[in-house]
Amino acid sequence: MTSLSLQEYLSREEALAGSDPVLSRLLVGISEACKEISAKVREGALAGVLGLAGSANVQGEDQKKLDIISNDIFVEAVARTGAVCGMVSEEVPEPIAVPDEYAIGPYLACFDPLDGSSNIDINVSIGSIFAIQPAGRPKRQPAEGDFLIPGRSLVAAGYCMYGPQTILALTLGRGVVLFTLDDVTGTFRLTAENVRVDREAAEFAINMSNERFWEAPVKRYISELLAGKDGPRGKNYNMRWVAAMVAEVHRILMRGGIFMYPKDARNPSRPGKLRLLYEANPMSMLMENAGGAATNGHQAIRDIVPQGIHERVAVFLGAAEEVELVTGYHKEA
Ligand code: AHG
Ligand code: MN
Ligand code: MN
Repeated sequence: MTSLSLQEYLSREEALAGSDPVLSRLLVGISEACKEISAKVREGALAGVLGLAGSANVQGEDQKKLDIISNDIFVEAVARTGAVCGMVSEEVPEPIAVPDEYAIGPYLACFDPLDGSSNIDINVSIGSIFAIQPAGRPKRQPAEGDFLIPGRSLVAAGYCMYGPQTILALTLGRGVVLFTLDDVTGTFRLTAENVRVDREAAEFAINMSNERFWEAPVKRYISELLAGKDGPRGKNYNMRWVAAMVAEVHRILMRGGIFMYPKDARNPSRPGKLRLLYEANPMSMLMENAGGAATNGHQAIRDIVPQGIHERVAVFLGAAEEVELVTGYHKEA
C-alpha cells in the first residue's frame, strides 16, 4: 500500500480536524517551491546554481546564487496560491506584497528560502523553513506591523530538508508529520506520523568556536555536558554541528538532543544569530508539537512579541529536560 501524498494528507486533515482548504492550498504551493529548489540543489554546478550572487541581504550577509533563486521560487509559488496577502523572506528587507495578477488570501507567510547557505558549495545538507500566520484583515500592501505577532498564533510551520533524501516536516498544531519526496513521481509521501522528541537527551549541538563569547549560564551548561560521566550530569554527551538549522532540527526529531545558538558578545547589540519570524518560531512550533521545548534562555520563543520582521533571537530547542535546565541557569544568573 502506498502512503498518503501531501494532498491526500491535507484533505484528510480537512475532513477529520476541520482545517482550512485555503491553508492546504498554500501548503501545497510551498511544497511545489521545495520540489523545484530540491531539483536545482541536486543539479548543482550542472544548473549553474553554486557560488556567490555578488550581493548582500538586509543583515549584511553575502547572498549565494541559491539564496536568490530559492527566494524567487518561494515568492512566486506562495503568491500564486492566492492564499496569502503578504510574505516576509530572509532575503528581502521589506514585507513582500502579492503581485496584482494574483488574488490575496487570509494568511501571511514568513520563510527562510535557503537555510544553511554555507553548506551549498560543499554539498552538505541545506533546507527551507516556513511559518504561516493568520492575517488580520487581508490587504494588498501588508505593513511590517502586520507580521509582528507571537509565534504562538502560527497555524502551520515546517521545513524541507535537501539531504540524501528531500524530506518535508510539517505541523498544523496537532503533532508533527514527515513526507519524503518520491523523485520519480514528484510526490511528497507521508513517511512518519506522530514524531516525538524524548524529554532526555545525550547529544547536543552548538558552535563551540564561539565559547569565549557566550554568557555565563551557557558556559556553565556546556561545561557540565563536556564533563560527561564524571561531571554533575553523570553521563557522556555526544556533539554534532551541521551548520544548517534544518538539519539539526531534523536530527533532533529523529533521535533527540538539544540545539543551541545563544546570544554572544561578538556583537552585543544582537540578541542571537537566528531570526525569530522565519527560523526560531517555525522550528519552535515543530519542537513543541513533538513534545520538545524551545526558549531564548528566558521565555518560550513562541511567546516573544516580535519587534521587527528580521529580529534575531537566542535559541535553545529540543529535549524538554535539557531546554528547561539551561533556561533555569539563565534565571539563576
Ligand atoms: P542561513 O543560511 O539562512 O543564513 O542560516 C544559517 C544559520 C543556521 O541554519 C545555522 O544553524 C547557523 O546559521 C550556522 O551558523 P555558524 O556558521 O555561525 O555556525
Ligand atoms: Mn537560516
Ligand atoms: Mn537563509
